[in-house]
Amino acid sequence: LDNGLGRTPPMGWMSWTAFYCEIDCQKHPTGCINEQLYKDMADELVAGGYDKLGYKSVHIDDCWSEMVRDANGILVANKTRFPSGMKALAKYMHDRGLKFGIYEDYGTKTCGGYPGSYQHERTDAQTFAAWDVDYLKLDGCNIDQALMPIGYPLFEKELNDTGRPIMYSCSWPAYLIDHPELVDYNLIGKYCNTWRNFDDINSSWKSIVSIISYYDKMQDKHIPTHGPGKWHDPDMLVIGNKGITVDMSISQMTVWCIWSAPLIMSNDLRIIGDEFKAILQNQEAIRINQDPLGIMGRLVLNSTDIGTYVKQISPSKGDKKSYAFALLNRNEKRGYQNVEIQLSTLGLTDPSGYFVHDIWAHVDLGLLRPGDSISVNTAPAGSSFFRADVASLHRPMGRRPYKLD
Ligand code: GLA
Ligand code: GLA
Repeated sequence: LDNGLGRTPPMGWMSWTAFYCEIDCQKHPTGCINEQLYKDMADELVAGGYDKLGYKSVHIDDCWSEMVRDANGILVANKTRFPSGMKALAKYMHDRGLKFGIYEDYGTKTCGGYPGSYQHERTDAQTFAAWDVDYLKLDGCNIDQALMPIGYPLFEKELNDTGRPIMYSCSWPAYLIDHPELVDYNLIGKYCNTWRNFDDINSSWKSIVSIISYYDKMQDKHIPTHGPGKWHDPDMLVIGNKGITVDMSISQMTVWCIWSAPLIMSNDLRIIGDEFKAILQNQEAIRINQDPLGIMGRLVLNSTDIGTYVKQISPSKGDKKSYAFALLNRNEKRGYQNVEIQLSTLGLTDPSGYFVHDIWAHVDLGLLRPGDSISVNTAPAGSSFFRADVASLHRPMGRRPYKLD
């Protein structure tokens, strides 16, 4: 959607995969969907330095509203769990330099059974704008799929009419998984800044791999329809959650960065381990995710366990191009896997060579020519991630020079 928003992939924190629809604040005082949860996470984004690295929005997900609209048909935040109301919560975010995201559903009800926006599109868009919302995730439960090509564009128009810049995330294609022939990403990209298109993630390796496999299969359809202002969203980062190891976290971060995917965490930032925080805060990885070209990387080599991905990044000039590349070991059971990889097999063919940098080891590998090989040893469920700056261009600004030994 060409509305000036989301020129690089959105980054932030969202409640769903860590806290779901927990509304029992008696039993779960620090883990229920209430205003304190979002304030806590906002505080953590700032205190933990996440905001400085780009993680700037706090997204409410489902289960925030009252079960019915008010007498004027307006949505009301749950009065017990959000006593100060949404406008005050938005202010809390804005006072800290953060953005405020909310969730609704195009259907008659949200997936969690709360009031949906169907036939209240204009009122709800106006309400969100009045609350100073910066981002809307519009889900697609409880609506006829045939209405989606009408409803999602209609909501875009209503958001636009408010005059407030509101980033727009559509779950439209996620409800058409079984009808790929009905999914036109050029059309969706005209109306939405980002969109979910596959199953919900959960905090397991199986779930991460199933998303990656789907994106691998669909890449010829995804890659050309992805870029600034229009991002495929493979769903939230589950890094830091029980069930997700350090290697799995490295893998999710690597692949999401190679894809230029939204980096929206769903975890508990109040208790996250330092090793996971370091993965989420790897500046080299984030820089590749936020690369201004916004290209979705491609799976270029595939074996039973190892997928190899390449993404063009800036700087580039004419046919001189820089790249990021990564090896993902999908097998969490077999041991380390060693792969010899020649740069030219990845399409890195510039005769002047590339300065190659290992993003997770923080090591420069020096100048490598297209005929040179590197030996990559990838942990079970782990990934290796490299940046390759074409040597015939000037070094990117603000980076120390590489050693040429
Ligand atoms: C759907 C979405 C999830 C989450 C839930 C809320 O399943 O895909 O991301 O928003 O609804 O009910
Ligand atoms: C292989 C892999 C899958 C997926 C596909 C993509 O089959 O095992 O995970 O990556 O390739 O084509």
